[in-house]
Amino acid sequence: MKQLKVDQLEPDMILAESVYSASGKVLLAEGTKLTPDLIKRLMEMQVPRVCVNDENTIPIDPNEVLTNRVHTQALRILGTVIPADLCGSRLEDAQFRYELVAETIAKIMETKEVHELFLDLRTIDDDTLDHSITVCVLSLIVGAALKFTPDRLYMLGIGAMVHDIGKKAVPPEILAKREDLTPQETEIFQAHVKEGYRILREHGFDVPIAKVALYHHERWNGSGYVNRLAGDNIDIFSRIVQTADVYDDLIRGLTYKQKYLPHEAMEYLYGAGNFYFDVRVVKAFTSSISAYPLGSLVKLSTGEIGVVVNVQKTSAPRPIVKICYDKNNNRLDYPRQIDLSEEKTIFITKIL
Ligand SMILES: [Fe+2]
Repeated sequence: MKQLKVDQLEPDMILAESVYSASGKVLLAEGTKLTPDLIKRLMEMQVPRVCVNDENTIPIDPNEVLTNRVHTQALRILGTVIPADLCGSRLEDAQFRYELVAETIAKIMETKEVHELFLDLRTIDDDTLDHSITVCVLSLIVGAALKFTPDRLYMLGIGAMVHDIGKKAVPPEILAKREDLTPQETEIFQAHVKEGYRILREHGFDVPIAKVALYHHERWNGSGYVNRLAGDNIDIFSRIVQTADVYDDLIRGLTYKQKYLPHEAMEYLYGAGNFYFDVRVVKAFTSSISAYPLGSLVKLSTGEIGVVVNVQKTSAPRPIVKICYDKNNNRLDYPRQIDLSEEKTIFITKIL
């Protein structure tokens, strides 16, 4: 193993130690084979030195390591957002969708062209890969709710997973900026949709998949970018990915200044249905994705603390909560249940 300055690196060298971002996340895992693109990215991110293998060390396949991680994370997200306790035919529905989505994820993970892009997504910034995985899973659940065939689900899932790949071309300082972008920076940032389309076509992806990168910032009422398409002129894959993209951004507090709670993000989607988003997609989204996974510990506006014990399909953002602690944090001897879909004045203020 030897330590080199980033400007001494050459393509095909293998990282002997993982490279971390300022916030402590793994940017590039140990074993990664460097490419000209990755070296450029390390320079842009002002990483000073890295350790690379010398002739005597055996490289591991970074794509395989990362693909396994992505697969595990996708299944974990899937398990938390599909309401698992729906009764009767609804339960069968949920199980069927879970299996269909899990099978589609497995098929996507076997697609070589996709896992080659995981490394790029991982090095864009701290959040892009995690965000992409979530958007992929949420989009697939919506696609399954809209009764897409397995083939269409597969294409939708890939489009969702790589929708932000064009951010590769955006300088890290613009991606990291939390204040308003200048008009010039906005133009550079917005160009990621065209760049994404170009990259995906160059990698041999079909037009319907590449179009998701191009149209994921369009809006139903024509107020999006870059082509200002409206309504049905935006393809259904992009309309689904737009909704999942905004939902996850709201919860992560990335693009929007304030961080939303899941039920607030759901309410935002409801409110923006037929305005920013296709209302049919919003309905499929809010009725098949659970804002609060079963077992979540939540604080209510009354100050009480409880556990989410049931999720109604028709009112997923307002679950049934079993109150275990009173507002003074005293454990209740006899926990009681409260149905938030009926108690409209009480709401969740925090996930604990
Ligand atoms: Fe984007």
